[in-house]
Amino acid sequence: MPHTFKLRPPLEQLKTDFYVGDSSSRQVDLILLGTIAEEGTKRNVWLDATDEHVVLIVGKRGSGKSYSMGVFLEGLGVSGGSKSRISQVRDSRGVVLFDTLGIFWSMIHPVESDGGPRHSEQWKNMQSMGLAPEPVRVNVWVPAGKKLPGDHESFKEFRIKVSDLTLDDWSSILDTDLVASQVGQLLSTCFVKVTQRGWQRGAVKVEPRLDYAIPDLLDCLDHDSEVQSRYASGTIDALHRRLGYYDGLRLMSSEGTPITDVVKKGVVAVVELPLSRVEEDLRDAIVSILLRKIMSARAEGSYAKKVLELQPRLSKEKQHELEDSIDRSLPRTWIALDEVHNFAPVSGRTAASRELVRMTKEGRNIGISIVMTTQQPSGLAQEILTQVDTLVVHQLTEYRDRHVAHENRKCPYPTEVKVDGKTLQDQEDLPAYLGLGEALVSCSEMTEDVPRAFLLRIRPRITAHAGYAG
Ligand SMILES: Nc1ncnc2c1ncn2[C@@H]1O[C@H](COP(=O)(O)OP(=O)(O)OP(=O)(O)O)[C@@H](O)[C@H]1O
Ligand SMILES: [Mg+2]
Repeated sequence: MPHTFKLRPPLEQLKTDFYVGDSSSRQVDLILLGTIAEEGTKRNVWLDATDEHVVLIVGKRGSGKSYSMGVFLEGLGVSGGSKSRISQVRDSRGVVLFDTLGIFWSMIHPVESDGGPRHSEQWKNMQSMGLAPEPVRVNVWVPAGKKLPGDHESFKEFRIKVSDLTLDDWSSILDTDLVASQVGQLLSTCFVKVTQRGWQRGAVKVEPRLDYAIPDLLDCLDHDSEVQSRYASGTIDALHRRLGYYDGLRLMSSEGTPITDVVKKGVVAVVELPLSRVEEDLRDAIVSILLRKIMSARAEGSYAKKVLELQPRLSKEKQHELEDSIDRSLPRTWIALDEVHNFAPVSGRTAASRELVRMTKEGRNIGISIVMTTQQPSGLAQEILTQVDTLVVHQLTEYRDRHVAHENRKCPYPTEVKVDGKTLQDQEDLPAYLGLGEALVSCSEMTEDVPRAFLLRIRPRITAHAGYAG
């Protein structure tokens, strides 16, 4: 039996829907999250997404985190305009989801009444809340050369531009330490020679090039006189073999997929990165490159927009130049990461974690919002936890995780919590009682109407959810 929850102070005085996430309640962009799960009148809860957000969804395995993240994404990708029941987004955003478990591709399928047992269960849930399927714009991207037999014909392939890979990315891809390991040192030597200093092929100087390709690194390895004299042949062979492997991947190319092809206004781009398609180290580098590209394109667009808005008396020519720059850049964008502790663990840095930390710190300024999930808040980098403005806590059974969730709450908690009529002695325990799809939400931008953390029942999804043991 689900538990009943009575929280104080009551929210009863509020007669309308709930809007959270913007203290001045601008309500330009709204996403329906669900309904209040406390005793009293049932009210809809909307996230006011007018401004940027860093949302973290936590919960134990199977508590509904991925499903809930899908709720945010559907809200950003529906094309129903003012007729939509789940979203009112006037300023459409780009959305990029890094799908490490390979479960979000199913968002291309709207829930159907006769789509099989999984669909009919979702269909019933959807109808019980008076929702109906709405078209959600979703593009699924898979690494080039990694299509699987079951893939839908609409799936697109993406490629990475080799010269976008930094030395750190290579260190992460090859899982080698640039200081402590011989192979790492050799990699560093070759990379710097090829991209910055140039190198020596016998008597001939080879000029450096930023727009390098893997064969350039291989060439330097095989022919540079300093490399040949300083490093053992076993070390050179080991690096040669590993670089040669990546040179053979279709994913690695001299052009790469333009980021503007992936990030489109009002479209959810699902980047499929499960281990069945890409090794863990390479996945990390892919995430790191894409985050970097999104941030730099957004920074350019956001700067041009601010100059246009804030600098009076610009010449017509300058205005056109800035407008072009905005067109070439990306729309404001939401980034979604499932199981984010894999990218930004509490200790140990990866190529992706550095970008991710930077994005959570600087994203707001350049029009980037983030939604992430983790089953282990105690395992997530502290720098990220402190940047979160909206914390969605599903069921947590581990004391340590409940403690971290409590310590990181974003607004005052209720003064009293009753579960099934009994007062809870320690409010930290509340997440232990939550049922599937129920969450304790705290938000740093609360309005006067909703002055405390509250319980939310996540709304049913309108696209198929593939997050179950299959
Ligand atoms: N709000 C909800 N309403 C109805 N069913 C839900 C809801 N949330 C989750 N479910 C169902 O519960 C199961 C687990 O959900 P989900 O995959 O989101 O869990 P999770 O917390 O992400 O788990 P994991 O830690 O294994 O990734 C799925 O079958 C999903 O359909
Ligand atoms: Mg999940």
